[in-house]
Amino acid sequence: MSFSSFFSKQAQKPSGLFGRIVMANIFDIGNAYLNEMVNDALAIENNDHVLDIGCGTGKLIRKMVNKISEGYIEGVDFSHSMVSIARKKNIKQINEGIVKIVEGDFDSLSYQNESFDKACSVNTIYFWPKPEITAKKISSILKPGGLLFLAFEDMQQLQQRNLNHDVFRFYTLEKVEDLLYRSGFRAIEIISKTKRKLKFHCVIAKK
Ligand SMILES: C[S@@+](CC[C@H](N)C(=O)[O-])C[C@H]1O[C@@H](n2cnc3c(N)ncnc32)[C@H](O)[C@@H]1O
Repeated sequence: MSFSSFFSKQAQKPSGLFGRIVMANIFDIGNAYLNEMVNDALAIENNDHVLDIGCGTGKLIRKMVNKISEGYIEGVDFSHSMVSIARKKNIKQINEGIVKIVEGDFDSLSYQNESFDKACSVNTIYFWPKPEITAKKISSILKPGGLLFLAFEDMQQLQQRNLNHDVFRFYTLEKVEDLLYRSGFRAIEIISKTKRKLKFHCVIAKK
């Protein structure tokens, strides 16, 4: 397997020692700016119920949880390595029942309809095998008027990296907007920011 395929598959679903150490650090450092952007956009309120899809090492959950006392944050990730790191990072709030981190494939898990105020997913859309099914599922579990925060790197910079295109699917802003409109969302707002010549987007869509 080429390094490009190996690395892309690790980004999609980190595993083993490489996943636990190398990918966890890459996610924590490399994705920090985009997660900070999403954390600001989320504007978490005290009693929000939030779902983080593909929560990785649980760092965004760690940030959100400081802002709630009556709310609830749930993370989901299908990588065992990521789930164990995310659980360790949020152990106090898990024991208090404020946070839950579930190991599983988001597309296959069952959720109660209209149970979350907000959902977010950072740097995971590239790996959605059936984007419309995933986006519709997110819509179904959001309360009416609930918000989705979908964050990803600009397509042009991703294209310059040595990533495997069978694993990574790249999206333009227009493609994401179109996907969300087709999946039952409306009132789409876009936040785009640049840091050290790298461009990041967060699409906010209302159910
Ligand atoms: C590139 S990482 C991003 C992690 C984190 N959101 C961040 O910004 O650092 C993608 C994460 O999504 C998870 N993931 C990808 N597809 C998934 C799925 N269908 N269900 C659950 N988790 C998934 C992977 O295991 C991985 O931890």
